Formats: sequence, structure tokens, C-alpha cells
Amino acid sequence: MRSFLEVDDLTVKELNRVIDLCIDANPPKVLEGEGVALVFQKPSNRTRNSMEMATHQLGGHPVYIRGEELGFDKRESVEDVISTLSGYDKCVAARVFDHEILERMAQVELCPIVNLLSDTGHPMQALADVVTMVKEFGDLNGKILSFIGDGNNVFRSLAMGAGMLGAEIRFAGPSDYCLSDLDKDRLAAVGVEVDEFAFAQDAVEGSNVVYTDVWTSMGQESEIEERKKAFEAFTVDSSLMDSASSDAVFLHCLPAHRGEEVTGEVIDGPKSRVWNQSENRMHAARGLLAWLLTEGQENE
Ligand code: CP
Ligand code: NVA
Repeated sequence: MRSFLEVDDLTVKELNRVIDLCIDANPPKVLEGEGVALVFQKPSNRTRNSMEMATHQLGGHPVYIRGEELGFDKRESVEDVISTLSGYDKCVAARVFDHEILERMAQVELCPIVNLLSDTGHPMQALADVVTMVKEFGDLNGKILSFIGDGNNVFRSLAMGAGMLGAEIRFAGPSDYCLSDLDKDRLAAVGVEVDEFAFAQDAVEGSNVVYTDVWTSMGQESEIEERKKAFEAFTVDSSLMDSASSDAVFLHCLPAHRGEEVTGEVIDGPKSRVWNQSENRMHAARGLLAWLLTEGQENE
């Protein structure tokens, strides 16, 4: 049973195949008469709506479930939740605080599990991001992607996805918020290396893509003030964008905080592709589900 908990659950060949399916607007209705359970322990705009519409476009029915209703390990165990849901739904997709919950879901092996964001990764976002970059540049080989800010869940998955497709990955952020050695080892296992910079300007020099995310992720709200201080030199503004390549685009997974990680001038300006990127969440969801529920399970 194949699941999609992180981008490296796919080989480079499979990732390219999934991207092709994401770009194909009319895939076969592989979910005809089937359900997809969408479980959320945290809020969502893009992820919930894109997964619901992708399921609909594949002929299926999305079932939205709030984490509190399931009460993982309080009302019943994670394993019992999956054993139940797999009787109704072809696939369970979940947004959780603790990544280990997704791993336990996948170990039940009754239906494929999709990570809709955990404390460690956001692979569905990364898939939409690489689709956005492929649509923009055709090919990521040799393109330079600079991520400015927090070495968080979004960056981990993005570095993996874009790096597996041949992009050069750079990171600039405060030293306490860089990737861990464990993260770097996992990236190295799929041939991805991250160049770290102390100053955003040095990272962005000549970049084709400049990417940022919020300084405080969901679940870290008690650290807001300390993070605002730590990240104050890492706002993506127009002068930073000016040192990127002349064809550079700005990406952000959203939601955005204008005046913190990015200025309004950049996110609402001509180099920004954030609305294409957020629409691509739906195309990415459709492509991934179409693959995971058919080709992805062959030879298993
Ligand atoms: N980018 C993203 O995952 O947005 P939501 O939190 O709104 O789903
Ligand atoms: N890093 C952010 C991404 C939101 C889509 C978070 O985890 O809250």
C-alpha cells in the first residue's frame, strides 16, 4: 500500500509522472462513486478546498472531518479511526500536528494516506509549487530557488521536490531556524543539498525563484514575539527581489502576513505568482490522487 507522506515517497520518475497528471486537466474519473476522507486538526483554506474540488473532478465525494470529532487516541485509537474510514473511503488525507499520526495511519495499510501538512512537511504544497515552477520555466534543471525565513515544514518538502527535479536550493534565515542535520541527511539521500546563507541578499543573488512562508506556523503561536525579532532581517522586499535574476518570480504558500515575511509591494507586484500557485493546489491534488489511487498501487 503506497501513501504520500513526503515527496521522497516518490522516485524522480514518479514525481515527473505525477506532475504530468497535474498538468492534464481531464484525467479519468478514477474516484467514481468513491469517497475521500479529509481530516483537519488545524485550519485550512487552500488545502481543504483544493482537495474537495480535486476529488469532485475525479468523480468522487470528499468527506470533511474535523480532528476534534475523531479525537485521536482519546475517543479511539488512530488505527481504529483508519480501520473504520477505510470501509467508506478510498483514501484518507489528513492535516495533523504530529507527523507520527500519519505514519501510524499508513502502517494500518488499509488505504493510502496523504499528508495535508504536518509539523515536518507539506508535500501537497511542494507538488503545487513544482507544478507552478514547471509551468513558469518548463524545466527546473539548474534553476536557483532561494527560500527566505523559517526552515519549516513547507521548506523541507519544497527543497525535496524542487531539488529532486534538479533545482539548486538556497536558504537564508536565522541560524536557529535552519534545517537539522537529520533533515539534511534525508535530503542528501535523494541527492539534494541546501546552501545556507546568513544574509538574504547573498542567497537571492541571481535566483529564479524567491520563496517565503510565515515566520510563525500553526501551533507555534506562543513564539510569535520571539520569532518576529529573530526574523526581522528576512523580509522579502523589492530591493531583495531586485538582486534576483531578471526573470525571477515570487512564491508563497499562503496565508501571507504583509509587512512581515513579505511586503505588499512584492506579493501584489508583477513578479508574484501566488494566485497561480494557489490555484495549482487543486491541479496538484487532482494529479496526485489520480496517480496514487491507480498507477501508484500497481505492483504493490
Ligand atoms: N498553503 C496552505 O496549505 O494553505 P491552507 O493552510 O489555507 O490550506
Ligand atoms: N508553515 C505554515 C504553512 C501554512 C500553510 C504552517 O505550518 O502553519
